Amino acid sequence: MRAVRFHEHGGREVLRVDEVDRPEATGHDVVVEVGGAGVNPVDTYFREGSYQPFAMPMIPGVDVAGEVVEVSEYVEDFEEGDVVYGTGLSKDHYGGYAEYVAVPTDRLAKLPDGVDPIAAGGAGVVAVTAWRALVDHAGLEPAETALIHGGSGGVGHVAVQLAAAAGARVLTTAAPEYHDRLRELGADAVLDYGRDDLADAVREAGGGGVDVILDHRLDDYLQFDADVANVGARVVGIGENDPRVGFERSSAARSKDLRITMMSMFNTPDLRVPLRKLAYLMSERDLDVDVARTYDLDEAGEAQRAVMEDSFLGKLVIVP
Ligand SMILES: NC(=O)c1ccc[n+]([C@@H]2O[C@H](COP(=O)([O-])OP(=O)(O)OC[C@H]3O[C@@H](n4cnc5c(N)ncnc54)[C@H](OP(=O)(O)O)[C@@H]3O)[C@@H](O)[C@H]2O)c1
Repeated sequence: MRAVRFHEHGGREVLRVDEVDRPEATGHDVVVEVGGAGVNPVDTYFREGSYQPFAMPMIPGVDVAGEVVEVSEYVEDFEEGDVVYGTGLSKDHYGGYAEYVAVPTDRLAKLPDGVDPIAAGGAGVVAVTAWRALVDHAGLEPAETALIHGGSGGVGHVAVQLAAAAGARVLTTAAPEYHDRLRELGADAVLDYGRDDLADAVREAGGGGVDVILDHRLDDYLQFDADVANVGARVVGIGENDPRVGFERSSAARSKDLRITMMSMFNTPDLRVPLRKLAYLMSERDLDVDVARTYDLDEAGEAQRAVMEDSFLGKLVIVP
């Protein structure tokens, strides 16, 4: 089969398409014929070496969706022909940028009829992250106000929809060209993240402040979060560009009993729990994963460039 691999860490040029043996279903694995594999910023961290893959050469890709074509003798809950999606590969496992991948069944859920496997191939990391942040860590409740920074991003556009599905009032930020689509996805207010008066605009749209904040750029926004938060607000941090994250004035956070959770999707105790619930939301069209662009295996380098450098709404997906 054809698989994208890197044999050493480096820039996009280390990605190449190799001919390798098709994996077999051993242990508690099933073999999935890949219909779509999401492209995520974390794929570039493994490639560059800031995250360590478990083995070299490495097939990248944390996400996958497709049809089960082989099951191990120990697997009881999946069978050949099931259409599945999942996440949590790469860290201790080969990834989804290939024609086939063997996946442990504790990282998979069945896809209901009608859910597009290419979109579901892009769902894993971003949807589980948004679920963990808003539901598990923030405990977002109906009628609360949520601020989703960067609503056009992979995580952001799912988080907008989950917060809306939870019955929250949803504020988000994005470049102007994405405002209409984000309103369609459930945002009550969409604000340009470039505006100078953003904090005032968030407070005004939130009726004074916000209860839950999903922050993917903590180095830019941690102080901002404290400034726009209501008393008792929860901030969930999923990323930053500069690792030196901190407050300019911690008093704003302290005076509001601000709770800050920093999370990694890889720590999800049982990925099947959010994956099954998210599959249900996709089947009910309460969650649409927008596919901005698809790429062949031999375009993986370009896909990884685009995920870090281009502006788009939703997900980039490799379709072998
Ligand atoms: N901790 C975890 O478990 C976890 C899981 C998933 C992702 N992450 C991290 O979360 C981050 C986002 O991931 P992703 O997959 O959603 O990436 P993505 O699809 O590239 O989305 C990033 C979004 O940020 C927007 N953005 C750029 N500058 C901004 C600013 N100043 N203010 C607000 N938004 C801005 C971008 O919009 P424009 O392109 O239009 O500027 C883009 O929509 C990455 O750092 C990723 O590594 C962490």
